[in-house]
Amino acid sequence: MRITMIGTGYVGLVSGACFADFGHVVTCVDKDTSKIEKLNHGEIPIYEPGLERLVRNNVEAERLFFTTDSKAPIANADVVFIAVGTPSRRGDGHADLQYVYAVAEEIAACISGFTVIVTKSTVPVGTGDEIEAIIRKLRPDAEFEVVSNPEFLREGAAIKDFKIPDRIVVGTEDERAKEIMREVYRPLFLKESPIVFTSRRTSELIKYAGNAFLAVKITFINEMADLCEKVGANVQEVARGIGLDGRIGPKFLNAGPGYGGSCFPKDTKALSKTAQDYGAPVNIVDTVIRVNDARKKAMAHKIIAGLGGEVKGKRIAILGLAFKQNTDDMRDAPSLSILPILREAGADLIAFDPEAHHEAAKLLPGLALAETPWAAIEGADAMVIITEWDQFRALDLNRVKSSLKGRTVIDLRNIYRPEDMQKHGFDYISIGR
Ligand code: UDX
Repeated sequence: MRITMIGTGYVGLVSGACFADFGHVVTCVDKDTSKIEKLNHGEIPIYEPGLERLVRNNVEAERLFFTTDSKAPIANADVVFIAVGTPSRRGDGHADLQYVYAVAEEIAACISGFTVIVTKSTVPVGTGDEIEAIIRKLRPDAEFEVVSNPEFLREGAAIKDFKIPDRIVVGTEDERAKEIMREVYRPLFLKESPIVFTSRRTSELIKYAGNAFLAVKITFINEMADLCEKVGANVQEVARGIGLDGRIGPKFLNAGPGYGGSCFPKDTKALSKTAQDYGAPVNIVDTVIRVNDARKKAMAHKIIAGLGGEVKGKRIAILGLAFKQNTDDMRDAPSLSILPILREAGADLIAFDPEAHHEAAKLLPGLALAETPWAAIEGADAMVIITEWDQFRALDLNRVKSSLKGRTVIDLRNIYRPEDMQKHGFDYISIGR
């Protein structure tokens, strides 16, 4: 089929490249000329494992194209996906839909022939109705259906999550649109990936409910970790013990410094706003937002306490800045809450992150960035692990011991075992153990 993807960010670029890999002909459109130029020269503007090869293969196969001009791609498309950003609006946390509505107007100007218009961006319940009204008003003559099709891609695992999804959710009650969406996802459909057809508003809410529930689950185990530290229990074993219950499941029970990223913080706030607007407040989600924000700051105080209550003039090596491993994304990363407090307390920070150094230079101006973990560790009073990059999991502990001036290692991701660290003579502090 001919697919046009509007927006080439984390969602649009991965989705467009994967649809092309299914055999569809995909044109990715973006206003950002430099981004499109890079993509046309095989440069990928984001870090996502496997994406560079996937894009290159499909560009070479002439199934994937990039352009800034949306007119022809929209006019010729069977399906137009809206995959532009819906960031949190300053202040009230509502999703900022200006980009979505601008694209809706662009689409209205160009569609010809029956066209399925799909919101892949995460949008508050009812946005599909708004998009339909905008297009209908501008083009009473046009034949189209607006469909919700949220994505469930985790950064760092986005291609895998797209190609082997737990489920595909499609929000429409129009039979023609259902048929076209079946055709779009046919390669997955054949792999028995369940496709859930539901109403548009239900589909929009499924996305928020899913992310909010995952944020609740993570925050729950994070609070269990704090309790474990007080009662002398081990949160990893609590997670294993409860996770073996089929009704709970073992995933997303890794205690850490709090969740970040481009989705959980934004989506929980947007859901809370929608719930307030409709008079059905989501009290649990509201609490999770507050607890998670406080946790990220509390981690800085945990580090200060771990260094005897005083970090003035102490050199602290920070390993990991991205909000999680396998991404360069630092949106709402715990490091953005932790490092300013440490710096305020007089610590001398030096950080290493394998992918997020460019973002970090923008978001944490003045932060000393090391080229390797060892350049950060050398001569530091303490080592603090914030992101669970695989390359931090097997550092030579003897070399760490001899490189560090001090003996304190603070591991906010529990990637080391307390017994190993004690054996090497470290003052080792971790989460919930
Ligand atoms: C999430 C959802 O998983 C995905 O389905 C949705 O489409 C987008 O948002 P993402 O934000 O990329 O994906 O990352 P994810 O792996 O879900 O982690 C989210 C946050 O939770 C990260 O900060 C991560 O460090 C944290 N986390 C995750 C934990 O602290 N513990 C866990 O066990 C899992």
